Amino acid sequence: MPEQPDLSVTLSGVTLKNPVIPASGTFGFGREFAGIYDLDILGSISLKGTTEAPRIGNPTPRIAETPSGMLNAVGLQNPGIDTVIGEELPAIAELFHGPLIANVCGFSVEEYARNAARFADCQQIAILEINISCPNLHCGGRNFGSSPETAAEVTRAVRASTSKPIYMKLSPNVGDIAAVARACEDAGADGLCLINTLLGMRIDLRSRRPVLANRTGGLSGPAVLPVALRMVWDVFEAVRIPIIGCGGVSNAHDALEMMMAGAAAVEVGAANLVDPLTCPRIIADMPRICREFGFDRIADATGAAH
Ligand SMILES: Cc1cc2nc3c(=O)[nH]c(=O)nc-3n(C[C@H](O)[C@H](O)[C@H](O)COP(=O)(O)O)c2cc1C
Repeated sequence: MPEQPDLSVTLSGVTLKNPVIPASGTFGFGREFAGIYDLDILGSISLKGTTEAPRIGNPTPRIAETPSGMLNAVGLQNPGIDTVIGEELPAIAELFHGPLIANVCGFSVEEYARNAARFADCQQIAILEINISCPNLHCGGRNFGSSPETAAEVTRAVRASTSKPIYMKLSPNVGDIAAVARACEDAGADGLCLINTLLGMRIDLRSRRPVLANRTGGLSGPAVLPVALRMVWDVFEAVRIPIIGCGGVSNAHDALEMMMAGAAAVEVGAANLVDPLTCPRIIADMPRICREFGFDRIADATGAAH
């Protein structure tokens, strides 16, 4: 076995120096974390979900603690695509020099396609992650990730708007995630990202009211790891396109487990909020974990459990 295992992975022709990616919504546009460590150690960064218009998000309280995790109902707070492209991308260009992932949101099929086309024109953006799975929005009464038909509709529209790699970010709040994944693949997706948060809630005993002003929120953190692993496993069996695995990863063992289930790369979300040095630690531990479990190349771990 070579001294240094090869940590690089490839997603639809885009090479990442390692498979570790901070997940959308837990890393902003990188600025806060750049004060803590050198962002260039990361494989990529999934930027905060972006809509056409600026959004202040949902009313507070919009975060709640849970056993082994957290609920959030942030509701896609973001400065809007003009500001993201005009100000955030130039700012992050100074801090991170690798390929970036844009997290594209929309309230209509047409808005998804427009936002995707605008990000695709940005040289820094290598992959478009199409978020059809935010549980905290009621997109005109529809959640696009909730059925194979609506997921395929968004995929087709985005596909027609760009030739850059498009990865559909899937919702775990469905009965058969493999069916949604297959519909996205058939409609032209280059890859998939899963999972987004699981719909949940908490009640305040004194006020006899839900803790979150939005009533419900999305559960993430270590509690969801087994759910995410099962879904990545099922989707890996159902499609041929690459999967970015996400959900509950907080150390290098979790990341390797996610890859063995079928992920080609791994996103780390809530763990960044618990300890901002989580991603650097996972990257630093990866060579040792590769040696311990017998991988010269971490890419060989993808699907190794099947
Ligand atoms: C505070 C917060 C904000 C989030 N915002 C977004 C977002 O804008 N777009 C998106 O696709 N996912 C968003 N997510 C979901 C995460 O990217 C990730 O899919 C989910 O939290 C599961 O991973 P984890 O268990 O590692 O946190 C958000 C999650 C949290 C905790």
